[in-house]
This record gives sequence, structure tokens and C-alpha cells, in this order.
Amino acid sequence: MHHFIYKDNELYCESVAISDIAREVGTPFYLYSSATLTHHFNTFDKSFGELPHLTCFAVKSCSNLAVLRLFSTLGAGADIVSGGELYRSLKAGIGPRRIIYSGVGKTEEELRYGLVSDILMFNVESEQELERLQQVALEQDLVAPVSFRINPDVDPKTHAYISTGLAKNKFGIPIEQAEKIYLRARNMSHIKILGVSCHIGSQLTEISPFTETLQKVKLFINKLEAHGISIDYLDLGGGLGVRYLDEKPPHPQEYARALKDEMEGLECTLILEPGRVIVSNAGILISRVLYTKQTGTKNFIIVDAAMNDLARPSLYDAHHDILPVKKKAGQPDEESLQIVDVVGPICESGDFLARDRELPAFDQGDLMAVMSSGAYGFTMSSNYNSRPRAAEVLVKDDQFYIIRERENYETLIRDESIPDFLE
Ligand SMILES: Cc1ncc(COP(=O)(O)O)c(C=O)c1O
Repeated sequence: MHHFIYKDNELYCESVAISDIAREVGTPFYLYSSATLTHHFNTFDKSFGELPHLTCFAVKSCSNLAVLRLFSTLGAGADIVSGGELYRSLKAGIGPRRIIYSGVGKTEEELRYGLVSDILMFNVESEQELERLQQVALEQDLVAPVSFRINPDVDPKTHAYISTGLAKNKFGIPIEQAEKIYLRARNMSHIKILGVSCHIGSQLTEISPFTETLQKVKLFINKLEAHGISIDYLDLGGGLGVRYLDEKPPHPQEYARALKDEMEGLECTLILEPGRVIVSNAGILISRVLYTKQTGTKNFIIVDAAMNDLARPSLYDAHHDILPVKKKAGQPDEESLQIVDVVGPICESGDFLARDRELPAFDQGDLMAVMSSGAYGFTMSSNYNSRPRAAEVLVKDDQFYIIRERENYETLIRDESIPDFLE
């Protein structure tokens, strides 16, 4: 369910005509619907009902301060993977005791920042990271709360680049090595064991990999208990998929039911780290057609958004629906459909938003909406080809707010300098 709908052939976000925003803000821009964000967060969170749980939004999927603040008002915590994400989350008002820190390569400085900020938990991913955290905690005279991220070797059946729970992936501690590390950690002076965590991948469209993981983790928790190590938190990560094309991911309620059944008998708080399922369909990318051209073999629509704005099509060959912001009279009509490539201005043949796609006619100057771009959209954008990054806009009811200004040429070079010898 989302709030991007046509009224009289014109695409609206809630009660705002998208073409009105484009007139004021220019293009390209990311556009988020606060009603959709709220609905998705609440649907997910409430699916777990009375079960003690904490929904920590995966900041990497969409990290604008305003979006984080919105989730914070709904009771969200944050799943972070860098000092930058910690900084954002705190600035947005997410309480440190609702923040968990994942990631394979936390630097000493980042560990210190998390520790002095009093975050809920570090999800430690290697024995060396544990040693470094103990050292940092000792220096600070603080105790580091930890959970270890277990790699359960479960196939999430998703794109290879976003599979994280297979033995060959860089993430987590192999389940067969983990027991030894817990036993070591419990004797460390400045480490407090709080939980077990895992995250097996993103855009999962089946429930079975989640339940298989949970079964393996439960057996592991039993082993820990036999050693007298009890667990307060079980963090099952994120990963629930969304529909981009014809995928049929489970509804969050179905996912929650399956997890709740498996949780029977476990006396701990469940932590969830959803990203994509909350924000993907709550955000779109708006772009304007610069040119169209027909070569002997292809029809191209050249737009002002590119792979630097939305990397997913180039990176994962991902599908995003493409819609006209204003439908032309008679659309959709079979006659006007054309097979086209929608491409950006970047000097790479991999710079496309859609390939061989059947779309209605787009003319120079038309606005185009690239749907389901809220997750891993703006956050993966870059300045490649020295392109200023797009603006971000949030709609609430009949108002819109610029929540990130479009970058400009000045901001592009702001942090660069020419050394004296070149003056
Ligand atoms: C540790 C961790 N948690 C949560 C997520 C969020 O995943 P998703 O957006 O698929 O829910 C990710 C994404 O890669 C992750 O690495």
C-alpha cells in the first residue's frame, strides 16, 4: 500500500501534485510519502504485537534525518553500520539505548564513539573485533554490551551481492566457531554478553530461510545456556523483500507469525532490523526527459537522473516500474507503447534505469517517476561524473518539505584543495 496515485491522469504524492513539486524543486529528486512510511513502519512493528521486541530501522536503506526522525516518533530504534549512521541517528533523536551497531569493519574510533554514546549493543563480527572492543572499553573504563553476529550458512535465495548468511560471505562468525568466542568473551573484563544476532541477506521473498536460520540459532542458544551463558536479545536482522516486479514476498504479518511460532520457549527480546520493506515503496525518484532518440536498433529516452542517483538497475540489474507523472490523453493504449531504454547522462553503457522496457510515449520535457526507489536509492547515490546529488522531498498530506537541498557545484568541490606546489 502506498500513497502515489493518479488523480485525473496526474500522479500525486498524498495530496500534492508531483509536477508542482518539480516546478519548485527542479529535477531529479527523491520523493517520500510520510503516510506510506508511517503505514509501513506501523504494519511491520505491530505485526509482532505483544512479543517483546524492538524494531531497529536499517539506516543504510534511507538515512535522511527527517525520515529517521519520523521513525523515531513511531518508536523505532536504529540499526547502524558506521559512525556516520550513529551520528545521524542521534541527531535525528533516536535514543542511544535503541541503537545497535552491525558491520564487519568497525574502526577503533567508531567502536569508541558507539561506546561513549551508550548504545544498546555492538553486533561483533570477528574475534579480532572483540579484542579491539575490549581494549577500547578498558581505556574508556566502560563495559561494552555485545552480541555476536553468527553466520548460519543458510541460502537466502536472493541476489548474490545481497546474500550475507552463506559460509562464503564475509559476514559474521561461522556458527561452528562461535561457541569458543562466547566462552572467551565471558571472561573478558570489559565485555558484557547480551545477545546473538544474524542477518542472512536482503530482498528475501520466502520465509523458509528465516525460519531455518532461527532453528539453527535456537540450537546454538541452547548450547550457550548449557555453559551458563544466557541471552537477553535475539537479533534476526532485516531482509524481508518487497515487490518490484512480480515477486510475491510474504506480508510482514506472515513473517512475524512464522518467527513468533519459532520463538516459543525463548525468553528474550527480539530485535528486527528491517530497511527495504519499510521504505522501498514509500519513495520514488522523479526525473525529466532531456531527449529522445531512435538509433537503428534502439529507442532511447535520456533523462536527467542517472546511475549516480539510482545505482540499483546498474548494480543488480534491478527492476523499477516507470510511470509518467502526467498521462497523455488516451494512455495507456497499446498503440502508443514502445520498447525503450531509459538512460542517464553518465558516460557508461551501464548507466540505465530500465532496459528493453515497454513504456508509453515520453516526450522531451516530460516528467517520469521511477517507482519503489525509497530503499537503497539516495543512500547509494554518488557524485560520479561530478553530478551534484539530487534533492530529497518529504510530503505530508497537502504539504511538501525539502529535506535535503540539491547539491550544487560549490558543494561538489567544497572539501578539495590545491596544494601550494601547484599554485
Ligand atoms: C546487518 C543488516 N541489518 C539489516 C539490513 C537491512 O536489510 P533490508 O533492507 O533487506 O531489510 C542489512 C542490509 O544489508 C544489514 O546488513
